[in-house]
Amino acid sequence: MTDITSRTEAALAAIAAASSLDALEAERLETLGKKGWVSLELKTLGGMSPEERTAAAPAIQSARARIAEALEAKKAALEAAALEEQLARETVDLTLPAVAAPKGSVHPVSQVMDELAEIFADLGFAVATGPEIEDDWHNFTALNMDETHPARAMHDTFYFPDKTTDGKDILLRTHTSPVQVRAMIQQGAPIRVIAPGRVYRSDSDATHTPMFHQVEGMVIDKGIHLGHLKWTLETFFKAFFEREDIVLRLRPSYFPFTEPSVEVDVGYSNEGGRRVVGGHGDAPGHAWMELGGSGMMNPRVLAAGGLDPAEWQGFAFGLGIDRIAMLKYGMNDLRAFFDGDPRWLQHYGFSPFDQPTLSAGVGARA
Ligand code: DAH
Repeated sequence: MTDITSRTEAALAAIAAASSLDALEAERLETLGKKGWVSLELKTLGGMSPEERTAAAPAIQSARARIAEALEAKKAALEAAALEEQLARETVDLTLPAVAAPKGSVHPVSQVMDELAEIFADLGFAVATGPEIEDDWHNFTALNMDETHPARAMHDTFYFPDKTTDGKDILLRTHTSPVQVRAMIQQGAPIRVIAPGRVYRSDSDATHTPMFHQVEGMVIDKGIHLGHLKWTLETFFKAFFEREDIVLRLRPSYFPFTEPSVEVDVGYSNEGGRRVVGGHGDAPGHAWMELGGSGMMNPRVLAAGGLDPAEWQGFAFGLGIDRIAMLKYGMNDLRAFFDGDPRWLQHYGFSPFDQPTLSAGVGARA
C-alpha cells in the first residue's frame, strides 16, 4: 500500500519533470505501459480473493487514474510548447522581397499605366474604361466626325464585317476618345477621368504598331479653361518624369472634338544618344517633341454626351503611353514592346513588388 503510494508520488514527480515528449513517453511505458508497474499491479487483482481485491483495488486504481491524468496534462503542455517553439522558429517575414523567386516582370506599359493612375488619382481623377470593339458612333460621330468628315479617313480603321443591330459600323477603336463619350453618358458632370487602354490602327513601321496604347483625360466642370489644361498637363509630366524642369509648349492645332485644339510638345535634349526630357525646347542643344493632342471640348461633343454646353465646359487630352514610356525608360524601338522577347522583358520589365506610389516615387527603383 505504502509502496504504491510512494511509487505513485515518484511517477507523478517524474512526469512533472519530463522535459520532452520522449521523456514523457518513457514514463508512460514505465507506469501504464503493458509492462509498466501499474499495469502489472492491476493484473495481480485477478488472482486475489474478493476480500483481498476489495482491499487492494482502490489504491491501485486511484494510482492509475492519477498517473493517467498527469500524463495527459503534461502531454498537452509539452505539445503546446513544441508548437510555440516551431511557430517561433518557422516565422516567415512576408514583408521581405521574394528575391530568389520571380522570373516574370511587369511590362513597362503596365507599369506606366499604374504610374498614370497613381498621379492622376492624386489630382482627383478616376479611371474610366470602354470597349476596344467600338461602334462608329462612339469612335467618330459623337466626337464630331460624321460620315463625311475627312479626319475619319485619316484614322486607318480596322472595320468588322458586321454591323450593330441598329445599323452602326463596328470597329476596333482608333483612339481612347470614345471613352470620353461613354463616361459623360454614364456619369454626367462634373467629372474628372483618365482612360488608359489599347487602340488600333492599320499602320506599321519602326514608330507605329497596329496596336498601341493611349491615355485619354477629361475634365468637365463650370468655368474650365485652357489654363487648367496646361497646369494639369505640366503637373502630371513633372510627377511622371520625376523632374521639375519640364517645359511644355502648346501648339495650335486642329481636332474635330476640341475647339480650340492644341498639340502638346515637351522640351528635350540628346544626351549620349538618348532623348532626355527637360529644359526649354528652343534652348541650345534642345528641341521639342510631340506627346499628344488636347484642347477645350467642342460643345457638340458635350451635347453628344448629354450635357448642356451652355452650362458645362471641359478640356480633354490624349497621350501616347508607349511614347512616354520610351522617353522615361530609354527604349528606342517601339516594336520590341510587343515582341514578347523574355530578354527584353528581363531588361526593361519591373518587379511586381515595385508599386508606384507618390510617397516612394512613381518610377522604378533598381
Ligand atoms: N484622339 C486623338 C488621337 O488619337 C488624340 C486627342 C487629341 C485626344 C485631342 C484628345 C484631344 O482628347 O483633346 O490622335
